Amino acid sequence: MEPLFELGIGQVMLRPYDARNDAHSIARIVGQIWHGGGDALMEGRFGLIADKPWGHWQSQSILNYLAAPDCRAFVAVESNEMVGFCSYVLDIQRRLGTVGYNGVSPEHQGRRIGSAMISFVMDQFHKAGMEYAAVLVATNPQHAPARRVYENHGFEPLMGLDYRVRKL
Ligand SMILES: CC(C)(COP(=O)(O)OP(=O)(O)OC[C@H]1O[C@@H](n2cnc3c(N)ncnc32)[C@H](O)[C@@H]1OP(=O)(O)O)[C@@H](O)C(=O)NCCC(=O)NCCS
Repeated sequence: MEPLFELGIGQVMLRPYDARNDAHSIARIVGQIWHGGGDALMEGRFGLIADKPWGHWQSQSILNYLAAPDCRAFVAVESNEMVGFCSYVLDIQRRLGTVGYNGVSPEHQGRRIGSAMISFVMDQFHKAGMEYAAVLVATNPQHAPARRVYENHGFEPLMGLDYRVRKL
């Protein structure tokens, strides 16, 4: 039987991500919440890219990340509905845990599901003997909730990143 983790919020449970059955729901959530991501902003600046909406490109990147062999991914489910997902990668040699893509569906944001998922990820880092943790997050206003969650979990800024684009 697959392991389940209670998040302590309503009936929300975390279970391992199953690419075959969960990809569609993840893509739906991503298309609803990633307005602040690079693909949405590129579309905002240049128009539709390769005739597909940004949600297609963003969910493709995220699904590729979640499907990578070293990625550990989980979905948060309540009453058979996917309400969020989280992921991480362990670098055993450096004892470095990196928080990966995570998100909560719009109608469930603000319930502390995002925070609880990051607490779960931090627990996994501790259990796996990690000594360091890292996460990459954008500095634009749309990522303020994510930055807040990471800040609440003790992550401090190390460097800024500048994502630049141009039309060729
Ligand atoms: C980041 C995300 C997962 C958080 O999920 P959530 O379940 O709504 O988060 P929580 O309810 O646990 O907490 C959100 C925190 O952000 C704060 N917050 C919400 N809106 C904010 C804003 N506009 N500016 C600053 N902080 C904000 C909340 O007050 C809360 O902080 P607190 O616990 O100190 O009060 C969700 O916003 C999301 O899916 N965002 C889009 C995708 C994303 O950015 N993913 C992370 C990057 S990979």
